[in-house]
Amino acid sequence: MTITKYFPKKISLSTLIIFAFTSCQPNTTNEQTIESLLSQMTIAEKVGQITQIDHRFLDDHSDITDYSIGSLLSGGGSHPKENTLKAWVDLYNGYQEKALASRLGIPLIYGIDAVHGHNNVKGATIFPHNIGLGATGNADIVRLVSEATSSEVAATGINWTFAPCIATPQDYRWGRTYEGFSSDPNLVLKLGVAAVEGYQSANKKNQRKVIACAKHFIGDGNTVFGTGIKNLVDRGNTIMTRETLKETLIPAYQAAVDAGVQTVMASYNSWNGVKCHGSKELLTDILKEEMGFEGFIISDWQGIDEIPGDYKSDIVTSINAGMDMVMVSGEGEPYKKFMALLTEAIEEELIPMSRIDDAVARILKVKLEVGLFDEPLMDYEYLSEIGSKKHREIARDAVRQSVVVLKNESILPLSDSTKEVRWSKIVVAGKGADNLGMQCGGWTIEWQGGQGDITEGTTILEGLVENAPPGIEIIHDPRANKVKGDVAVIIIGEDPYTEFFGDRDSLNLNKEDLQVIENAKAQGMKVVVLLTSGRPMNIANHIDNWDAFAAIWLPGTEGAGISDVLYGRYNPTGRLSFPWPVQAEEGTSSSSLIYDMGEGLSYE
Ligand code: BGC
Ligand code: BGC
Repeated sequence: MTITKYFPKKISLSTLIIFAFTSCQPNTTNEQTIESLLSQMTIAEKVGQITQIDHRFLDDHSDITDYSIGSLLSGGGSHPKENTLKAWVDLYNGYQEKALASRLGIPLIYGIDAVHGHNNVKGATIFPHNIGLGATGNADIVRLVSEATSSEVAATGINWTFAPCIATPQDYRWGRTYEGFSSDPNLVLKLGVAAVEGYQSANKKNQRKVIACAKHFIGDGNTVFGTGIKNLVDRGNTIMTRETLKETLIPAYQAAVDAGVQTVMASYNSWNGVKCHGSKELLTDILKEEMGFEGFIISDWQGIDEIPGDYKSDIVTSINAGMDMVMVSGEGEPYKKFMALLTEAIEEELIPMSRIDDAVARILKVKLEVGLFDEPLMDYEYLSEIGSKKHREIARDAVRQSVVVLKNESILPLSDSTKEVRWSKIVVAGKGADNLGMQCGGWTIEWQGGQGDITEGTTILEGLVENAPPGIEIIHDPRANKVKGDVAVIIIGEDPYTEFFGDRDSLNLNKEDLQVIENAKAQGMKVVVLLTSGRPMNIANHIDNWDAFAAIWLPGTEGAGISDVLYGRYNPTGRLSFPWPVQAEEGTSSSSLIYDMGEGLSYE
């Protein structure tokens, strides 16, 4: 791909000079380029670089040019009106051209939550959410998954994913439990590094890089119940000494920094009563100075707004604390108000120019390293990467590795012909049986996910039908009350949710699900229960009635991975990456477990 082909028609002379400067003079170091740019930038242009807006909230696309906006994002569900692959490239290029047409022509860096695949994009491969990847315990598969995700992201032109989430969730009532690999900081560290490496490995085919973002710094998974939104968990307060923080939560971030992660996102929660977004101790003293982080810190969506005080003081506090780029979003406070107040604060010397220059220099450095100045635009030729057969195979492999079989009264695998009992008539039931939306969970196409055929993929039922060995008949009977088979495979679980929408004070199974299991039992069938969920739930009172049970988490679009396990083509290796209490609401603090971390059965 050549750049010239994509030059916007009204490109400014200075833009050309910068291109010449950065791409034709290999001897020019990034530091020199940054210095040169900084020396030319007005306060307004620096403010523009620090500002990130969700493209849905742009007043006018020309604002990107007029205000030299540094970054756009697509939040959850923020897709082009028509969610087609071509529309994504057009959306990205359209905005990028506006940035290139600004006085200095500094390209945008475009961020997106590709947290389990390029999940806002219809047709993308959707991989298991982190909780499922945690159950694989396998850094190699996490690396492959992240690499595949990154090449799907790069194919749309986008250069930055807000992933991995390296939280270590402790309270399962938290709606973001599934975004964490494990409650064990060591496993999180290992898989977090693999994810960073995978996301940031230059896409082998087109050599376009995507940068990762370790989030949410810090303590997002450790908040005290009752201190969050609506007196629940999300965005609450984490109480922890600095020593304990350093022993438990910092190591995974340090490892991500050492692995070269280019951005870190601040967390909505407070640490000992202080909002992380406004904590100089966390953002500057610890992350930048002690840990040696040289990339840039991005705030979370309207995250600075939660710092006590008015909006201007939020801006001053967060930037002085070390925030480099602000995800204004534009959904709440208007971005023009943000830029006006930040400018005012700089002019009034409430924020030193050295801090602003440091923030802008960090942002420019990442933009240079990611290759944006050389190749800011994207063409359509890599779109076949998205949802490719190769990526779906990786996802299917991840799915089968993520299944944790916890109970098996000689019923699985369903098709082992050497067994005494061979099940020939299998009823498949439950709300999750033929429901792509449910098996994908939150952060899929829409922010909160959805039900049914929300994108392309293979449901668990379809996987069981398509891969059924000879002699096995699969019958779909959603409520297990019409057909009697030898065995009923019942897929139950949670409806999709994201963030605080998933905070719950009770983790009981839902009554309709339990009724389906009852129906199957009443007909005299053996039951295999598969739980689709973002966390351990209350199974202790029910499991005695079940002949087999497996936690399948939120597997994503490749439901056939489940059939590989059920049909015995894959001997299960998944192990719990979270302890499973009798009372799930007790989370990791429980002393009464039904299954411990590390448990999971294989066949034989
Ligand atoms: C979430 C982040 C996410 C951001 C952008 C926030 O609400 O906490 O994880 O990256 O939105 O969508
Ligand atoms: C966005 C999400 C974001 C959330 C935060 C939504 O409108 O699409 O990405 O995380 O708001 O509240």
